[in-house]
Amino acid sequence: MRKFVNEKDFVLLLAENEKYLVKVGNKKLNTNSGYINLKNLVGKKYGEKVTTHIGKKFVIVEPCLIDFMKKKLKRIPQIVSPKDASLILAYTGIRQNSVVLDAGSGSGFLAIFLAYYLPDGRIITYEKRKEYVEVVERNVKTLGLNNIEVRNRDIIEDGFDEKDIDLITLDMKDAEKVVKHAYKSLKHGGWLVIYSPYIEQVLKVKKEIQKRNFTDVKVVESIVREWKVEKYTRPSTLGIMHTGFLTFARKV
Ligand SMILES: C[S@@+](CC[C@H](N)C(=O)[O-])C[C@H]1O[C@@H](n2cnc3c(N)ncnc32)[C@H](O)[C@@H]1O
Repeated sequence: MRKFVNEKDFVLLLAENEKYLVKVGNKKLNTNSGYINLKNLVGKKYGEKVTTHIGKKFVIVEPCLIDFMKKKLKRIPQIVSPKDASLILAYTGIRQNSVVLDAGSGSGFLAIFLAYYLPDGRIITYEKRKEYVEVVERNVKTLGLNNIEVRNRDIIEDGFDEKDIDLITLDMKDAEKVVKHAYKSLKHGGWLVIYSPYIEQVLKVKKEIQKRNFTDVKVVESIVREWKVEKYTRPSTLGIMHTGFLTFARKV
């Protein structure tokens, strides 16, 4: 059944060559092709069209995670991109009701990605900088997620309190110093995944993993190449070539 647009909703207004992610409660949206009075969207059905004052039509669409990530969430440090975050789901085969620990939170992109795709799960993300905790809280509120908690803690100093954890994700400086805490908190069969921008960190992390009873250890890099498919077809000359390495390990 189609949903109706509510005053508190974010909606995506979509046309072939233009799109806008807006909160319906705002007053007016100026597009490249005229303005739309956003109050007029309340009560319309998703999938219906709305017209600007000069006649351009937009379809009203329920936004999804990628729309928020591109347009509405605040970013501070380097984030884990969806192409890398999705590999975590694919390679661990994590269940939807899993409990996940994450550190450091940064802007919360990885934690939010996991919370969004594990709706029956629980994600606890740790960040040592108070000002970043506030950014993550704001990003979580924008998406309306209720299965994610942000905690202000130095995870190298204080470790995790939780036990019997399905997945622990680390994306932070000196992540190798957290491997011992992660090992204690994981359940048997639980996964540790470490995101590292540099191979030097991968080597340090691997050394710590090898000291403990982990199996299925592997390091992967996901390289995604866009292609231009026009009159002539070829890979794009522009794009992000390297993001980071993912080290996977499963507690025996
Ligand atoms: C690259 S960012 C993480 C980005 C995050 N994964 C995302 O997708 O938005 C690294 C974060 O780790 C935090 N951090 C570094 N050392 C930490 C520690 N010992 N305990 C908790 N957080 C830490 C930093 O403050 C920074 O915000």
